[in-house]
Amino acid sequence: MEQPDNELVEAAITAMAKAYAPYSHFPVGVALRDETGATHVGVNVENAAYPVGNCAEASAIAAMVMAGGRKIVSIAVAGGDGSMLCTPCGACRQRIREFGDQNTPILVAGPDGLKASFTLGDLLPESFGPENLT
Ligand code: THU
Repeated sequence: MEQPDNELVEAAITAMAKAYAPYSHFPVGVALRDETGATHVGVNVENAAYPVGNCAEASAIAAMVMAGGRKIVSIAVAGGDGSMLCTPCGACRQRIREFGDQNTPILVAGPDGLKASFTLGDLLPESFGPENLT
């Protein structure tokens, strides 16, 4: 396997401090690298009307799209206190799928560093994506 992108992991951990998570107290920071090499970060943004809150992955993907990026080359997710893996939720696996493929690395970190490494294919096998509509 390729060496993990430590810079991306550190950017995700740094982003955690900006999370807006007054209800769950579960901060999540995401950093992703696009096809130009640019890094985009995002955090979870909760809401008093709970279902309206959004995940950190959605924030980082929105930042990438706004900057013109269209491909996730690698993504790091840092969340919680490190006692358990903060793997992307089901909806976020599909969000990543839109701009990634089965080989896209998903690096999972806690506040103290990298804990595990997966590919999107590991976490969302036999997925449905843009190619299905062409
Ligand atoms: N959360 C994320 O930001 N990404 C995930 O993939 C898992 C969950 C957030 C949503 C909510 O603000 C908090 O973590 C607890 O579920």
